[in-house]
Amino acid sequence: MKTIKIFFTRKLPERPLQELYQDSDFELDFWTEEHPITKMDLCEKARNSDVLVTLLSDNIDREVLTSLKGNLIAQYAVGVDNIDFDTANELGIRVTNTPGVLTESTADLAWTLLLGVARRLIEADNYVRKGLWKIPWGPKLLLGVELTNKTLGIIGLGRIGQAVARRAKGFKMHVLYTSRTEKTDFEQEFGEGIRKTSLEDLLVQSDFITVHVPLTAETRSMIGKKAFSLMKKTAIFINTARAAVVDETALFSALRHHQILGVGLDVFHQEPLNEENSLLKLDNVILAPHIGSATTETREKMVEIVIKNIKAHIKGESLPNLVVKG
Ligand code: NAP
Ligand code: GLV
Ligand code: GLV
Repeated sequence: MKTIKIFFTRKLPERPLQELYQDSDFELDFWTEEHPITKMDLCEKARNSDVLVTLLSDNIDREVLTSLKGNLIAQYAVGVDNIDFDTANELGIRVTNTPGVLTESTADLAWTLLLGVARRLIEADNYVRKGLWKIPWGPKLLLGVELTNKTLGIIGLGRIGQAVARRAKGFKMHVLYTSRTEKTDFEQEFGEGIRKTSLEDLLVQSDFITVHVPLTAETRSMIGKKAFSLMKKTAIFINTARAAVVDETALFSALRHHQILGVGLDVFHQEPLNEENSLLKLDNVILAPHIGSATTETREKMVEIVIKNIKAHIKGESLPNLVVKG
């Protein structure tokens, strides 16, 4: 077999990569600088590569796609909204992603944010660290909200949405969800206490709302001014999907005017978050730097999935995680 040149736009967890290092069919090249690769450098690398392994922060537009020597983009993420699908299709470039292996870690993070906001964990930690804890125990100190028996609204009951729902059982919560298709198998698995509804009804009824749809033309800005106005004043809103599903101005306004109780975010319109961003001035938010899938186990499994797809592509087998046929 001829040597297959693979370019990685960032260093990935090493352990699972050994499989490729030990195989003389592959030649691996990595972007090793601290700063992300520039468009010019990425196009340059693409011109010499059979396969590009990309991150969700790489803008894979027409310029990059037309530069690519080979015809596979293996994305190291489940979300692929950074890739120009139409052009990839037009040029016969295939795109794969890494679904499934990051489902549980991302659901864990959505719950971490939800619990953190509900119980004001960051404020509490700061309170202790800043030496403000002077009285042994306070009946009204840092009161949060209860989860048990409340209603959780899940926007997008796919893999991660379902994993989030499973965790809600432990809190005896009622689950409302939206999705394009019926989820009767999951409803059966879940048993009592889950119901598909309209987005509007979900926003009105839920105590906690969490977003798990991919970013598409249909979902872009689906949570805007009207959506926030429908939410309860006591609602907590969590976004670990993609920032652009939510209108940035509407979110900030809802928080600043205490139209809702609090927000937990893992995704932002501009990543990294600009130090001038108004969200940084608010207390009723918890901000995480896009770490939904950030566990050692998940990040290694994501590499394994990338390798499986590359190998299948090279052997001419069907690709396990094809999102664009090319
Ligand atoms: P998935 O299994 O494809 O689930 C997406 C769900 O969204 C599906 O149930 C789908 O409905 C639903 N959906 C799509 N368009 C919709 C619409 N217009 N209205 C209502 N529902 C809609 O994907 P996943 O693996 O759960 O991942 C979801 C997203 O999470 C990814 O695309 C990514 O952006 C994000 N993510 C973020 C992190 C992080 O680090 N923060 C980590 C992993 C993933 P149907 O089932 O009916 O098609
Ligand atoms: C992370 O955001 C992913 O899409 O995998
Ligand atoms: C709190 O720590 C309690 O014992 O109620």
